[in-house]
Amino acid sequence: MKALVYNRDFEGNIKLCERKEPQIINSKDAIVKVTLSTICTSDLHIIKGFVPVAKNDTVLGHEFVGEIVAVGDDVKNLSIGDRVCANCETFCGECYFCKRGFINNCVNGGWELGCRIDGCQAEYVRVPYAENGLTKLPEGVSYESALFVGDILSSGYFGTEMCEIKDGDTIAVIGAGPVGLCAMMCAKYMKAGKVIAIDIDETRLKIASDKGLADFVFNPQNCDIENEVKKLTENRGADGVIECAGVKETFEMSWKIARPNAIVGVVAMYEEPLSLPLPDMYGKNLTFKTGGVDAIHCQKLVKLIEEKKISTDFLITQKFKLENIIEAYRYFNDKPQGCLKIAITP
Ligand SMILES: NC(=O)c1ccc[n+]([C@@H]2O[C@H](COP(=O)([O-])OP(=O)(O)OC[C@H]3O[C@@H](n4cnc5c(N)ncnc54)[C@H](O)[C@@H]3O)[C@@H](O)[C@H]2O)c1
Ligand SMILES: [Zn+2]
Ligand SMILES: [Zn+2]
Repeated sequence: MKALVYNRDFEGNIKLCERKEPQIINSKDAIVKVTLSTICTSDLHIIKGFVPVAKNDTVLGHEFVGEIVAVGDDVKNLSIGDRVCANCETFCGECYFCKRGFINNCVNGGWELGCRIDGCQAEYVRVPYAENGLTKLPEGVSYESALFVGDILSSGYFGTEMCEIKDGDTIAVIGAGPVGLCAMMCAKYMKAGKVIAIDIDETRLKIASDKGLADFVFNPQNCDIENEVKKLTENRGADGVIECAGVKETFEMSWKIARPNAIVGVVAMYEEPLSLPLPDMYGKNLTFKTGGVDAIHCQKLVKLIEEKKISTDFLITQKFKLENIIEAYRYFNDKPQGCLKIAITP
């Protein structure tokens, strides 16, 4: 089968290769025929060498939907032919961390697919602990509508959970990329009173406001962002900040625009170590939470999509065939205006 392989010996670290189709190797595995996959910003982090745990010579990709073509003997709730969306994380469901919902730190899993084991940018993919990692799609939910459930939508939701949103809260989301837009959508669903979108990309800000995901949008290149957020919050600052941009400037912004005693949820992945100026922050009494997503709400998110309470359909702005995936990577990396997410078709 065709598969996009990450290997540091390849030019640009990736190549479309011919690989053997995956087989069941554990009784809890399933094999999924990939009907749509996508490229995540985290894949770009891998090929640029910023993910030290990424294993050389691995098929990339951890965000996909597909049809089950084989299941191991211990997979009871899934059958051949089922349409499913996948969790970007592999988790056993039984270890200390899984029992507490911290599946990103599952001692038998975590971010495995497309990082430490072969992922989904291929024709077929093996999913370990398939009962946990795959969610059946109801008839009314298309593959396209469910493509982002297990990664970026879960990550956006995770950001809102980190912020412990209460009715009427003002939530600032830094970064109006795919993850930030999902965070805004989930903040609205969680009844945030005001959602503020912050980005330097005007096109993305426009999408946030046109889609009704943000009530206010700001470009920090054109305004004093701290001041703007204060004006909207009786001079306090945001009740919760979700950092989905991932650069030094936005990390700094995240604590500056937060009100005292706010929660800052850091969803973004940085390419350099960063530090907080604790003396300057003293007395602000902030709570910082960080993390790789604990994507434990896939079923709930699919239901919300089915009920049309949320929709990520607009995020697919371009499609590429698997055979042209190198071109897709280039396109996604360059992010021409209007590009949000790419769907990779068989
Ligand atoms: N925690 C997780 O499990 C998880 C899961 C998926 C993605 N991520 C991470 O989340 C982040 C966002 O992902 P994405 O796909 O939306 O990425 P993206 O690059 O498409 O979006 C980032 C946005 O931040 C904006 N930005 C950059 N510099 C800025 C600045 N100085 N001020 C304001 N805005 C600025 C960009 O214009 C862009 O729109 C990435 O770091 C990604 O790796 C984390
Ligand atoms: Zn991802
Ligand atoms: Zn576990």
